[in-house]
Amino acid sequence: MNTKTNRGTMNPFPERFLWGGAVAANQCEGAAREDGKGLSTADALTGGVFGEPQIPPRGFYLKKEAIDFYHRYREDVALFREMGFRVLRISIAWARIFPKGDETEPNEAGLAFYDRLIDELLESGIQPLVTLSHYEMPLHLAEAYGGWADRRLIEYFLRYADTVMRRYKGKVRYWLTFNEINMILHAPFNGGGIRGTAEETDKNVLYQAIHHQLVASAAVTALGHEIDPENQIGCMIAGSPIYPLTCSPDDMIEAMQKDRQSLFFGDVHARGTYPAYMKRYFEENGITVKFEEEDEQILKNTVDFISFSYYMSYCATADEKKNVQSRGNIMSAVKNPYLKESEWGWQIDPKGLRYILNQLYDRYQLPLFIVENGLGANDILTEDGKGGLTVEDDYRIDYMREHLLQAAEAVRDGVEVLGYTAWGCIDLVSNTSNQMSKRYGMIYVDRNDDGSGTFERYRKKSFYWYRDVIHTNGESLTEETAASK
Ligand code: BG6
Repeated sequence: MNTKTNRGTMNPFPERFLWGGAVAANQCEGAAREDGKGLSTADALTGGVFGEPQIPPRGFYLKKEAIDFYHRYREDVALFREMGFRVLRISIAWARIFPKGDETEPNEAGLAFYDRLIDELLESGIQPLVTLSHYEMPLHLAEAYGGWADRRLIEYFLRYADTVMRRYKGKVRYWLTFNEINMILHAPFNGGGIRGTAEETDKNVLYQAIHHQLVASAAVTALGHEIDPENQIGCMIAGSPIYPLTCSPDDMIEAMQKDRQSLFFGDVHARGTYPAYMKRYFEENGITVKFEEEDEQILKNTVDFISFSYYMSYCATADEKKNVQSRGNIMSAVKNPYLKESEWGWQIDPKGLRYILNQLYDRYQLPLFIVENGLGANDILTEDGKGGLTVEDDYRIDYMREHLLQAAEAVRDGVEVLGYTAWGCIDLVSNTSNQMSKRYGMIYVDRNDDGSGTFERYRKKSFYWYRDVIHTNGESLTEETAASK
């Protein structure tokens, strides 16, 4: 078995591999109150994921206008087309469709926006991949119901899903239910509209909310299949493999347990039932989750594929003294001494992508979709020598190349990978820290943390690089590495 990167051998990406990018409504659209949209939980997190929600949000906040995708989507889709995207992961802002969340009739003007966007994508030869809830829900549901802790949200979410799945029948084939569903454990308001930090929140409330989301996700999976048997419905998990810090058996057990905190979500979605290990976890932590009679049956509606974001791996140790934390994507954990970090302290581990692809495929034998990956960095706009402006983002190219080469290794290992959507393919507002300056895009957007800027778009060096990767179906990755030997 080869443990080294097998560079230079044949290109393994299947012909139909879905190359593309990913954005989320609340981080790119702006138009926070336009055409009848209600406020969402994302609007209230004006200071980032860990800030105190500002209800209602007052004054300036970046997401209010974001990158103005709501008005500029045509220009942006044209740029995605130029890069050759086969897929764009978008999300629908629930509060555009049901401004308060508990209405019975949808907001037609909100739907009309997604009609235009989805049609524009299809006319450009780009397939939409739609997340139903990407870190947002109508703010009213958080305020009046306490978010997902209230079971009635299942009904409201189903009504919303039913509305958009019927509307886009035949146009949207790939659907995701909740973005990074496991992250509610670490940021309950961001993931579930529940006030308070993860530490403050009663675990009974948290796991009850999680249960409601899992039931809602399974019910939407059933509904989506009923509306159109062609629909492919997946769950979405923040994927961060956990390595034992040392080969001490105690560290190994610690890593297994930490890993299961996230794998639990995949296990329910893929196997249709709670895994056995959760029984012990619930007992030992005094947690009771209330199941209604129909829940066991509903959960049996398992997903067609598993999607996940991948930015980093973590370590786990049973030794308190070695517990040096690294910052991370919402969750933080023990630092790996072998890895470098991004400017935001996220540990960079391309091989972790090969590892997690294998881990999830071994566990579920379901197709996998890498729906987020990328490098958040401070970019500097410079002259391109042709009278225009660009960003020389070789660091981003290196990051993406190394990760894609590892995805290629996983494909060689036999893992079925449906596609890869680069996170924040156009610069957008960051989720954790609410900054514009943490840029992921291959397209630069002239907007700054203080809200200044023209909203102009500029192609970065990575734009042309990714265009080549897509045009060659990944072949250029192996050619580049062979040439650099
Ligand atoms: C994921 C989210 O957590 O990571 C995205 O699904 C987010 O919404 C992305 O933007 C990158 O995180 P950040 O905090 O750098 O924007």
